[in-house]
Amino acid sequence: MLLLIIQLYRMNTVILVLGASGQIGTELTQKLRKIYGSNHVIASDIREGSEELMPSGPFEIIDATDKIKILETVKKYNVTQVYLLAAMLSATAEKMPEKAWNLNMNSLLAVLDLAKENHIQQVYWPSSIAVFGPSTPKINTPQQTIMQPSTVYGISKVSGEYWCNYYHEKYGVDVRSLRYPGIISWKTKPGGGTTDYAVDIYFKALEDKKYECFLSENTRLPMMYMNDAVNATIQLMQAKPKDIKIRTSYNLAAIDFTPKEISEEIKKHIPDFQISYQTDFRQAIADSWPSSIDDSEARQDWKWHHDFDLQSMTEDILKNLK
Ligand code: SER
Repeated sequence: MLLLIIQLYRMNTVILVLGASGQIGTELTQKLRKIYGSNHVIASDIREGSEELMPSGPFEIIDATDKIKILETVKKYNVTQVYLLAAMLSATAEKMPEKAWNLNMNSLLAVLDLAKENHIQQVYWPSSIAVFGPSTPKINTPQQTIMQPSTVYGISKVSGEYWCNYYHEKYGVDVRSLRYPGIISWKTKPGGGTTDYAVDIYFKALEDKKYECFLSENTRLPMMYMNDAVNATIQLMQAKPKDIKIRTSYNLAAIDFTPKEISEEIKKHIPDFQISYQTDFRQAIADSWPSSIDDSEARQDWKWHHDFDLQSMTEDILKNLK
């Protein structure tokens, strides 16, 4: 009986992924297609995606701030859920504050409005560790704490969290969110983030056996392997509404490490790998963020757990990239 209900739920679910060509979008779309079926997951982005993504199911070119185009697509495919992953990350946003604000905010408000108007039933929107700032407790940062972010990206994410909560409280919108740490992947690279070094380092280690890091050796940041991030996202969206007790955004954590520690781990596989340090403006962004996150509420409310630590992630990435 339960299996039948799950089957029916999946058959009635049609997902639109906005930002499907990006780092998280690429892998999340593929996983959703495995679960719900290719034709039940509509990928979209402002540009085409990878060679792997494009032939795997329907794709639409959509600017995530274009509410009319999103609505057209929702109607065309009878979309029930939107995953909004289009965003400008922290480092790029510092260079283009207005553009970042417009993209990050207008896309969210467009999607929340479509849910409020009952065109869609469920929304996923990622927040980030960037909601925290220099005055936030740095170690095991709690769910509820001082936020005061010092970056444009962080300001847009804090504001977005309160919009999500507002639409939930006021209009009953079923919007769910996670505060992602730095996400590490090997299929698609991130762009314009402060945690990107932890992706680039693997590529450079294999190509050149050396890497110049833009953060200092002891900068500790919360991180997570892509497989865990994708699982967390889908698990959150599949949880029963009564188990979702936080409608701003959930703290989410897996591992934390410094550039020195990740380079030591890589050296176990590539003994002559060398790291050097040349910090730039991204150091100040990293310094304003937590070193580790307390995600006990996610673990308690919808039974989140992570699978990958620094060692198993490094093994998996190097094996796949080789
Ligand atoms: N990975 C993001 C960034 O570095 C943080 O959410 O901007």
